[in-house]
Amino acid sequence: MANPPTLPSTTPIHNLLQIGMYNTISRIVHAGVYLGLPDHVENGPKSAFQIAKEIKADPDSVYRLMRALSSQGIMREEDEFGVFSKTPTSTLLTNTDKGLMRSGILTLCGDLQYKAHLNLVKTIQTGIPQSDFGYEGGFWEALLRSDPDTILNFNKYMTLSSILFAPTLVKSTSFSGMKIVCDLGGSQGMLIREILKNNPNVQKGINFDLPTIIEYKKSNEDNNTRYEEVAGDFFDSVPFADAYTLKFVLHDWNDDKCKIILKNIENANANAKIIIYDSICDSKNESKFSPIYDIKMKHFLNGRERSPQEWINLAESCNYKIVEFNSSVTPGLIIMVHK
Ligand SMILES: C[S@@+](CC[C@H](N)C(=O)[O-])C[C@H]1O[C@@H](n2cnc3c(N)ncnc32)[C@H](O)[C@@H]1O
Repeated sequence: MANPPTLPSTTPIHNLLQIGMYNTISRIVHAGVYLGLPDHVENGPKSAFQIAKEIKADPDSVYRLMRALSSQGIMREEDEFGVFSKTPTSTLLTNTDKGLMRSGILTLCGDLQYKAHLNLVKTIQTGIPQSDFGYEGGFWEALLRSDPDTILNFNKYMTLSSILFAPTLVKSTSFSGMKIVCDLGGSQGMLIREILKNNPNVQKGINFDLPTIIEYKKSNEDNNTRYEEVAGDFFDSVPFADAYTLKFVLHDWNDDKCKIILKNIENANANAKIIIYDSICDSKNESKFSPIYDIKMKHFLNGRERSPQEWINLAESCNYKIVEFNSSVTPGLIIMVHK
């Protein structure tokens, strides 16, 4: 049979056909990572058929999956039939070290998020989130109800995001004069640890998150006496602090919910500085990610990625004013103080 005609890679048709395959590609990568295939080639080239025997899977299917992974640069097919070797990408996806990237892929392409994308059309038609989670905060409840591996992978994925972004964000922020800093929705505590490392003047760093997240993680592994974990719900109350950080938290919530969080911060300390690390969405589509994330946030959580004006509106609706906007760091940095 003749090969199907190939299209120049720049045509709109090619672009759309590629977009049409994203779904399948993400599930192929998920299957390969879930089955641990990157680990199997990490120590040297290996036959797909041998791997199939070891993982008790269908040999022909494992070979074809590995070939598909190779087509995406995730591993490399050798000249010898059925033999594959590692690439820098497959190494990132192994379960060695902390396996953070592996957890990121298992989260982003995993069943919970995959199924959640059903009914997106209905969300757009009604303006009401119609993902499985169905209502504000539903994603967190669905996550916390899921199996321990799903929770662990999500938490590691959050840690990965902190490892990627926290050092630059913390270096771009002044914590001078701050004695107590509280990171709301801090997950595994990476950000607050980075703040403590870089700011000896901060005497106490509080990592605040839902009880399930705080209880689930290993407590204060490094015995840092300045580090504290507090379990709670930021819709009820937050601990006292001189400054509050919120990294990738407010984008999870609509304005009404954000106002409750900001009000609870005001109740704890009306003079506190609020340091937000979150996307600053631009309308001209300069960033490829924030408009995509915006739809995800809407559909999963009724959240949103905010433009500069939307951040200003949110701050002003709670009697706060924005004293710093920095969109040159990733994600973005917004600092608010009470008017
Ligand atoms: C998108 S994650 C961001 C985690 C972390 N700040 C980061 O950037 O990696 C949002 C965090 O908010 C936490 N969270 C959700 N609802 C919460 C609530 N009601 N009270 C406290 N934390 C909450 C979640 O458990 C999760 O750790």
